[in-house]
Amino acid sequence: MLDKISKLREEISVITPGSDPEEFRLKYLSKKGLISALFDEFRDLPPDRKRETGNLLNLLKEEALSKLAVLKESAMNKTVQKSLKEDYTRPGYPLFYGSRHPVTLVKNEIIDIFSRIGFTISEGPEIEDDDHVFTKLNFAPEHPARDMQDTFYISRLSEEESKPDDILLRTHTSSVQVRVMQSTPPPIRTISPGRVFRNEAVSARAHCIFHQVEGLYIDRNVSFADLRQTLFYFAVEMYGRNTRIRLRPSYFPFTEPSGEMDVSCRICGGRGCNVCKYTGWLEILGCGMVHPNVLENCGIDSKKYSGFAFGMGIERQAMLKYQVNDLRLYFENDVRFLEQFSAAI
Ligand code: PHE
Repeated sequence: MLDKISKLREEISVITPGSDPEEFRLKYLSKKGLISALFDEFRDLPPDRKRETGNLLNLLKEEALSKLAVLKESAMNKTVQKSLKEDYTRPGYPLFYGSRHPVTLVKNEIIDIFSRIGFTISEGPEIEDDDHVFTKLNFAPEHPARDMQDTFYISRLSEEESKPDDILLRTHTSSVQVRVMQSTPPPIRTISPGRVFRNEAVSARAHCIFHQVEGLYIDRNVSFADLRQTLFYFAVEMYGRNTRIRLRPSYFPFTEPSGEMDVSCRICGGRGCNVCKYTGWLEILGCGMVHPNVLENCGIDSKKYSGFAFGMGIERQAMLKYQVNDLRLYFENDVRFLEQFSAAI
């Protein structure tokens, strides 16, 4: 009898999920099944052998019951899967919408605004040379912005070599405008959106990567009034009808005169709040009349042509639009942050 029990235990242990549970039940566990037959036999055993055999027999029954449970479960899964495949009327799985990144949303909005008044879009390489990022733009050889502090260099020439054609990551997209001026005769009316890099420690207010849109307008008789009116148009389209602007004098090597533009604070309307630090104004961009040296460096006759240029950080505009004041959020791609912009598509 012990032999029979161990044979059955062996037999049951090798049955794999997928076998028919009802067949299994009938064969082993039903009233006329093999295990029940063993229990009948057990009753007739002499008392001194009952203990050992009884234990093993109970074990066999337990193993058979748990095997039956496994077989039932796998059969159930099979039917569910089959019905999933066959029931074409079941509702679909929920689909979650993606959303555009806030930087993309704001970039597209800026592009839209300038496209409406005839600006084209130009793009250029992120890996640039010193010539396009600095030299052609009238940066003096010792200008601090060329310093390792601000610029990520990829390769630098040694001090002795005279031609400055170091390879670097562009620090602004003005480099794209140099390329446009070199390859296109005026009139030029273009904006260059893109990613730029500066060697800054990452914090809530600074990042080593950010995005810009810079603009360039060159034609005969372009004046500061044209610059002001174009940027006023931009400010009103971007920040709303009641927006006022002001221009403050500033310095850039590639523009003369240079300015920085503020818009009236859209939170308090200019009355003063913690967003505008109680000044009523928010700085949004740098601008100026293109320096004659820059025009000449790029092969444009500065006696015939004049122009204006401007440049803004996209994250800066996004901060003002969405009141999200930690720059790092724009780069971490945390879904909980990004999905808040899905309504803004
Ligand atoms: N290139 C400047 C910057 O990156 C912005 C700028 C562009 C200023 C054009 C004036 C004119 O900060």
